[in-house]
Amino acid sequence: MLKLMLSSSSKPYPCQLVFASKETAKNPSLAASLSRRIKNLYQQKIFKGTNNEALFIPSENTHKIKHLLLVGLGDPSTINLEKIRLACGKAVRMLETHQQHAATIDFSTLPSISQSEEQLAAAITEGCLLSAYRFTKKKKNETCSVKQIALLKVQDRSSTQKGIQVGSVVAQGVNFTRWLADHPPNLMSPSILAKETQKKCENIPGLKLTIWNKARILKENMGGILGVSAGSSQEPRVIIMEYRPKGSTTKPICFVGKGLTFDAGGISLKPPKNMDEMKFDMCGGAAVIGAMLAIARLKLNQPAIGLVGASENMPDGNAVKPGDILTARNGKTMEVLNTDAEGRLVLADILSYACEQKPEWILDAATLTGAIVVALSNIYTGVFSRHSELRNKIQKASEIAGEKTWHMPLDDFHVKDMQSPIADVANISSGGGGGSSTAAAFLEHFVDKKIPWAHLDIAGTAWNVSNRLSYCRPKAASGVMVRTFVELARNANR
Ligand code: BES
Ligand code: ZN
Ligand code: ZN
Repeated sequence: MLKLMLSSSSKPYPCQLVFASKETAKNPSLAASLSRRIKNLYQQKIFKGTNNEALFIPSENTHKIKHLLLVGLGDPSTINLEKIRLACGKAVRMLETHQQHAATIDFSTLPSISQSEEQLAAAITEGCLLSAYRFTKKKKNETCSVKQIALLKVQDRSSTQKGIQVGSVVAQGVNFTRWLADHPPNLMSPSILAKETQKKCENIPGLKLTIWNKARILKENMGGILGVSAGSSQEPRVIIMEYRPKGSTTKPICFVGKGLTFDAGGISLKPPKNMDEMKFDMCGGAAVIGAMLAIARLKLNQPAIGLVGASENMPDGNAVKPGDILTARNGKTMEVLNTDAEGRLVLADILSYACEQKPEWILDAATLTGAIVVALSNIYTGVFSRHSELRNKIQKASEIAGEKTWHMPLDDFHVKDMQSPIADVANISSGGGGGSSTAAAFLEHFVDKKIPWAHLDIAGTAWNVSNRLSYCRPKAASGVMVRTFVELARNANR
């Protein structure tokens, strides 16, 4: 496993990483010989220091450095923490390609952007650790070969050390989310999800885990999740994680996640093409679990609740049928016109339960609609909320966390499109188009109007994003929203 640390400086590793922007050749902290070398490369147009560019120079042998790895950051005025994460993601990939097991990062070559050394070190750590992640359970020799990265020439050792520690906890949260979601569906059922979460929660102070099985879910009147799981041989689970730091008196914030460990569509069966990807339909739930673990391990002083509705959606003789009517926990009736619109039926129960906890606000994450992929591709997560203050908080937090979000419409017309003649709400729209907004309008029926709530549709951003993000793997979960959730918990009352 890759480990980040502060360099003892006496013995740098053979490979040194230098961040390079247009100004790098003028950087006074670089040794003159190195500066000259980089200037030459710029002049010969071999390397330009642009964003997303990297160059490995073997046997460089200048200034105690054996190999040199230049990583471009682009125009210094545009550099932010996410560009640093991406550059580190790329760097780890390059180190692997060139079979380097260890490297030092010259911290002083980071252009002076306004962030503190702690934030910079956290971003570097996140970029490196996220890039080194692999799902190795069924292909053992696939581990990342880079094992050690040390930060060299830092000014404030204690705040940099803190940054490495915080960045590691956040990255471990994201990587655990990915690990859960990357499992093939035969090895990740609702009960396995609950068990793996339980293993991780042991011995984390202030974190309490409760798991509800089918019998308990029945007692708790959760007709949505029971209906969705009816066609599966796997029992559903509700996972409840409560983090209450000692002495804290503030209201908790609440994260809710869709945890469909496989979505075949049910009786409204999905077409076979790419159906395997529906193992990722639990990414919202997995993000809630990863974020709650990180929040508790960072000992943030904000109480938080994480709730996950875990189920399979399968067709069989017991499955819910188009036309069936289910009753959610808050008493509202739902006409199931398409059994593939199942995430909202599960969330109906979990959101109702979330409101009973009287939280400060509720945020749900769900791979809810194919329509959001059409609208926002795999670039942005869609944010649906009528509450401008919460929306702004999400916008700010996601920017700091480096996860792109976009505000999408949710209004009374969308609510009207979800009417049913024989139940309180239908699970698909009677109008055409706007499928992500009408899905959000459905969810709104299950949220107390007095509690600020936002819905995040992560169907586009939860997996297959390696074409854009250097620290993500192809055909694998991204762990999106864990970083934003942690950032929100950090600043919940600001
Ligand atoms: N899990 C899917 C949404 C999804 C589709 C995520 C493609 C990622 C990629 C969800 O349960 C679903 O099937 N939604 C339907 C809703 C429709 C029947 C109203 C959809 O989007 O097609
Ligand atoms: Zn579905
Ligand atoms: Zn689904």
